[in-house]
Amino acid sequence: MTEPTNPRTPSASVDPLFIDRWSPRSFSDEPLTDDEVASLFEGARWSPSSNNMQPWLFVYETDGPDREVFDSILLPGNQIWATKAPLIGFIFARTKSPEGRRPRTAQFDTGAAWMSLALQARTMGIYTHAMGGINLDEVNEKLGVSDEFYTPICGFAAGRLGPREALPSDLQERESPNDRKPLSEIAFKGIVENA
Ligand SMILES: Cc1cc2nc3c(=O)[nH]c(=O)nc-3n(C[C@H](O)[C@H](O)[C@H](O)COP(=O)(O)O)c2cc1C
Repeated sequence: MTEPTNPRTPSASVDPLFIDRWSPRSFSDEPLTDDEVASLFEGARWSPSSNNMQPWLFVYETDGPDREVFDSILLPGNQIWATKAPLIGFIFARTKSPEGRRPRTAQFDTGAAWMSLALQARTMGIYTHAMGGINLDEVNEKLGVSDEFYTPICGFAAGRLGPREALPSDLQERESPNDRKPLSEIAFKGIVENA
């Protein structure tokens, strides 16, 4: 599969890994190997977290009868493209400890773990796509995850890039790396007035 031209232009020097990570919708159905899957989650495992609590939980499936359960949790707008991906997962943050404490940074830490997974994927020629469009009322119960202790964050697809032409025409138009706000809008040196 030929990689599409990346139109992104960094405004400061940055490792190409950061601009080469983007979220495609066309995935090849080529399976990921067990070693590849383990490496994705290994990337996440080494993420930083407050007090090293590691509040993230990844629940995933690749095939077999349970895969339909995973696909069914996606909202239709995501099902239309994501069900072809060789791996679908859901990400939870442990937002309540066994002692009843609610760590303030659980979702933040879980986001860091997600990004680690996404970047590890790109080092291996694999793409990921996060999906907030999931059925939040069903995801914990369908996957056997306590809704007392775990807050669902999002789903994700992972796999190799598929042909853009495999997508419906409206999604083909969006199948390209997008841009970002300028650096001057997101990082400020010194005291910020009226941010
Ligand atoms: C938490 C989260 C939820 C998202 N939800 C969806 C989604 O439901 N459907 C979708 O197609 N893309 C979804 N995205 C992908 C974003 O639209 C995408 O990351 C953003 O446009 C930046 O593009 P890039 O990832 O290609 O750099 C989500 C991304 C994140 C991080």
